[in-house]
Amino acid sequence: MADQDILRQSDPRAQGASQNPAPAELGRVAASLPPTCTPGAPLVMGRCNGGPPDLSFDDYGQPYATHGLHPFPAKFPPPLARWAIEQFTAPREWLLDPFVGSGTTLVEARLLGRNALAAEIDPLSRLLARVKATSLDPTWVEAAKAQIDHRWDSATLPILQGQPPSLSAVPDFPNRDYWFHAQVQRDLVRLRDLIARIDKRAVREFLLVVYSSIIIAKGPSSVANALDIAHSRAHHVERRASPNVWRRFCDRYGRALRGLRAFYAQADHSVQTLVLGHDAKALPYRARIADVILSSPPYITAIEYPRSHKFSVWWIGELLGVSHRVYETLRSHYIGTESVPRRERHTLRALPAGLPTLDRLAARLDEVDEVRAGRARRYFWDMRRALAEMLRTLKPERYAVLVVADSHLRGLRVPTGACLVEIAESLEVDGARFVHRDTVIRTIRERSRQMPIKRGSNGDGMKTEEVLILQRRPKHLFVAMGTRNSQDSAAAGAAAAPRAPRPREARSPGVKPGLREGCCQSTKRSLTGVGSIETSSGRVMCGKETIA
Ligand SMILES: C[S@@+](CC[C@H](N)C(=O)[O-])C[C@H]1O[C@@H](n2cnc3c(N)ncnc32)[C@H](O)[C@@H]1O
Repeated sequence: MADQDILRQSDPRAQGASQNPAPAELGRVAASLPPTCTPGAPLVMGRCNGGPPDLSFDDYGQPYATHGLHPFPAKFPPPLARWAIEQFTAPREWLLDPFVGSGTTLVEARLLGRNALAAEIDPLSRLLARVKATSLDPTWVEAAKAQIDHRWDSATLPILQGQPPSLSAVPDFPNRDYWFHAQVQRDLVRLRDLIARIDKRAVREFLLVVYSSIIIAKGPSSVANALDIAHSRAHHVERRASPNVWRRFCDRYGRALRGLRAFYAQADHSVQTLVLGHDAKALPYRARIADVILSSPPYITAIEYPRSHKFSVWWIGELLGVSHRVYETLRSHYIGTESVPRRERHTLRALPAGLPTLDRLAARLDEVDEVRAGRARRYFWDMRRALAEMLRTLKPERYAVLVVADSHLRGLRVPTGACLVEIAESLEVDGARFVHRDTVIRTIRERSRQMPIKRGSNGDGMKTEEVLILQRRPKHLFVAMGTRNSQDSAAAGAAAAPRAPRPREARSPGVKPGLREGCCQSTKRSLTGVGSIETSSGRVMCGKETIA
């Protein structure tokens, strides 16, 4: 597809956008159902032949292809992205991820031959997503690395002989000497200068990601004097010896190259991937472009991405076109941010959402902590705008699959999934609305997901996530909210409200028949209300939530 068929008419291409080579022919969307399982795929999931989906993926081993290129907090488990893509799309269809993060969905989309569009506010995440999903010829990277090896060696000799290195300036950022050893600073500048001299953008960016990964790496493998950069506020660590930048870079490079080779061998080189530097609250894409929306939105105040990424942005920001000062100012635009000014909190408090679960929650939070109540309100208002954009960009009858988790604020459980469903079903865009089709609970394998583990006043941390499945339907259809796993409550819903049209999985392109039966068996949460009604404000009231 050409840019004008993808982008909104009024949207100029955003800064930081990148596009892979356009395929010769993208073909029309396949109307056939997708294959149940991809033969020979690296993952064999028992449910492919009709069993209930266990989305915990306990058997998922090491990251494959480019998934392990760079650490990232709260990454999607790749098999979950794979499952959703196979369930909800046919080959060559278009996936949209409005919160693309490190690009897990894009990598899987390319491996499975789907076109993919993405938005992401964070410049480092955009770089990661772009690099991980680009089918870059590994031999180009090897040639560039050989050049760097040579230049590093020839620059090292004079230094060993006592000559001062000729370097561009070490970047200036807060507490530089506290976080980085003097020798590490010099080596990071040298290495960055050598990478910046690589001509081919895709190759340069690949090596830049490897470079960034040694800064943000977890614990002792980081060259920064910091521990746990991704999870929380970085903790300073006193290192006895200065970490060896070059050796760590070469180690990471070896692993990254192996991943790239595997990815390149399996990737579909003909599909398109586009990552735009946009806010999910105002997507640059035209209406009804996506065959599926697959995303894991940010959590409420759980991870401050700029806080963990700033270590890397200090060093490579200039090459990404963002100074650390500009990066700091972006912080308040992230969904889930902790920086919600007092005035905004008060404004939001005066604007109840008109949605029962959400308003009840905000009122309870107000009693214990007005600041956190304000953050929660701001999160859901932002997500409302993001959900409206998802509804606008999704094709009729197709599905949005969102992976979310409850949060704990001052000991209160925030039922994020239930609130988002409530919001989603209250929206109307272009004569369409979302209908909640299912929620599948999955267990988080904490080690691989790198979730923030919050304890004490914040509760027990995140042990499970919800996979919300929403469908875009025409607004004039009355929506009944019977449960999908309880015949009794479905019957109760049917008695009190006009019967909802049966979901059209079997007729919708790209959706496997039998999906709902599979999902239902593992769904623990259900909606047992008597149905939904349209209010004068156009909102749909949800039924009462129960936890099985
Ligand atoms: C949970 S992460 C996504 C992780 C991703 N699924 C992966 O596997 O790497 C959420 C992402 O949303 C991004 N984000 C936060 N606010 C945003 C906004 N307003 N618009 C677009 N992206 C945003 C964050 O920068 C973060 O990368």
